[in-house]
This record gives sequence, structure tokens and C-alpha cells, in this order.
Amino acid sequence: MMFLLILFTSAFLFPSSNALDFCVGDLGAPQDPAGYSCKKAEAVTVKDFVFSGLSVAGNTSNVMKAAVTPAFSTQFPGINGLGVSLARLDLAVGGRTAMHTHPEGTEVLTIIQGTLCAGFISSTNKVYLTSLHEGDVMAFPQGLMHFQINVGKSPALAFASFSSTSPVIYFMDYAWFANDLPTQILQKTTFLDPDQIQRLKELLGGTN
Ligand SMILES: *[C@@H]1O[C@H](CO)[C@@H](O)[C@H](O)[C@H]1NC(C)=O
Repeated sequence: MMFLLILFTSAFLFPSSNALDFCVGDLGAPQDPAGYSCKKAEAVTVKDFVFSGLSVAGNTSNVMKAAVTPAFSTQFPGINGLGVSLARLDLAVGGRTAMHTHPEGTEVLTIIQGTLCAGFISSTNKVYLTSLHEGDVMAFPQGLMHFQINVGKSPALAFASFSSTSPVIYFMDYAWFANDLPTQILQKTTFLDPDQIQRLKELLGGTN
């Protein structure tokens, strides 16, 4: 009986070595839908759980006047398997994140600086539109199309949190106009005029 008690107690004091507290991503191994495989526990250090890349403002000299700096499992392997990630959003005056979705995760956006117009569109096509100010937080439900526009007079800064280590950023404009999808097909499927499609393809780097 005593022996059993000791055995039982020591199992609590010394958890078995295969307890999985974390699974720091092994970036050398391929990523599958479940994430990366785990780096060997002996090789894990506190550095794996710290990411400093979000301290740097992204470069907003682009057509969107926007920069998204991700801290997904690829950039920040310590969160692999933990179901969370982050991103930094910099928007120059007039900048925007064009219409996009995160198929794999819900987003919660915290405004640090600036004034944004933001919204999402539900799957029943209802629009949820608002303006956001410093300190505001807004949720964008998983998979729904959404956007943010800097409508203020100074650059805007926000941090997004996601309920996935790889939420994916899927831009509608790039999916339509930044590839070789033929203009006739876009015309049929979007009702846009060919000149408008050509103009958008030129702006976003598409052909055909
Ligand atoms: C920002 O991006 C633009 C366009 O790609 C580039 O010309 C410029 O050098 C970049 N600025 C910095 C600070 O990296």
C-alpha cells in the first residue's frame, strides 16, 4: 500500500517525460495542416518563446499603403500547436487592408494609434461597419471578409491576435486580379467591365 502511494505521489511530482507542454515548431521539417513537428525538447530554450519582429514598423510604400507583419508559427515557432498567433498592422495615411479573410482563425484587433474605418460582412451579406480609435478592440469572426482603412490624419498602428497559429491571409483583390485568371472569365463572374479588370490587373500585377 505504502509502495503504491509513493509510486502515485512521484507520478505527480515527476510528470512522465512524454508530457507535452509545448511543441516548438521544427522549421526544418515540412508544415502540414496540424502545424510543424516538434523540435527536440532538449534543444528548446526560452528564446523559442520570444519574438521581437513586431517591434519594427512594416514598410507601407506599396499600393495598399499598408504592411502586415505576421508572428505566425513560421516566424514564431514557439506558438506552434498552441492555437494562437499575432500580427502587426501598419497603415500609412489613407492606407488599407483590402478585403480579405482568415480561413483558419478568428481575429481580434487592438488599435494602438490612429483612427480606422473597419468592418466585416457576414455569410448572409450583412455589413458590420464601424470606426475604431486608440484602445478599441474589434473581433472579426473566422472566415468572414473584412477590411480596415486608416481614415485619420496620421499613421495607424494595430496588433491583431488570431485563434490559430496559421490563420492565413487571403486577399480577395489579389485572388481576382494578381494572377493570370482570364479577363473574360472575370467579366462573366464579377459583372465588371473588361477595362476595369485590366486596370485592376495592372495595379495588382495580374496578366491575361
Ligand atoms: C520600402 O519599400 C519600397 C518599395 O518596395 C522600397 O523602395 C524602399 O526602399 C523600402 N524602404 C525601406 C526603409 O526598406
